[in-house]
Amino acid sequence: MITQRFNANLEWRKSGSNKNYQFLGFLHLIDYISNLLPDNSKALEIGSYMGESAKITAASGIFNEIVCIDPFEGKESFNNIFNHTWEDVEAEFNNNIKYFDFINHIKDYSYNVINNYDNGYFDFAYIDASHEYEDVLRDIKDCIRVVKKGGIIAGHDYSWDTVKQAVTENFGNNIKQFKDTSWLIIK
Ligand SMILES: C[S@@+](CC[C@H](N)C(=O)[O-])C[C@H]1O[C@@H](n2cnc3c(N)ncnc32)[C@H](O)[C@@H]1O
Repeated sequence: MITQRFNANLEWRKSGSNKNYQFLGFLHLIDYISNLLPDNSKALEIGSYMGESAKITAASGIFNEIVCIDPFEGKESFNNIFNHTWEDVEAEFNNNIKYFDFINHIKDYSYNVINNYDNGYFDFAYIDASHEYEDVLRDIKDCIRVVKKGGIIAGHDYSWDTVKQAVTENFGNNIKQFKDTSWLIIK
């Protein structure tokens, strides 16, 4: 089964190498933030899919609460390309997070539930949901509110013009990047 992180599509990797930067790059990001965040931090993930980034985040030991928001419905090109159904995705998510009772999955869209969280509730937010410019912008604005000062806001797919535009408008160009095309700023 082809997945987004643990068994990323070989054909999408950089030519001439089997190195899986969708895994290694995210691992590097988590290692990087482990030096910045205190123990028992709280994380938010917008867009979890099969729970692979959530599993890496949870296994780090940095967090005592991880909120994963994903409706497991709607258009997802990865499902179409690799013949995954949302039932497969949800089962895989549950399998990946099974060790971690501090992961709380909310089966909904970010914009429906983000207002349940107080300002500055989270130490870290990772945005990996819709790539539409307006959607990324809304998720970034919401994360600016729910992540505390000195906390970390990050996301995937900086290689997308839509993502880059929304990130740049809010944070300028001085952002840290990783080999999985993740971006990161300290609030
Ligand atoms: C690229 S996948 C996430 C991959 C995952 N973070 C990983 O690295 O393993 C994108 C996910 O975002 C979800 N999604 C899209 N819009 C969303 C929204 N507004 N709120 C929460 N999840 C959303 C989709 O259902 C899909 O599962």
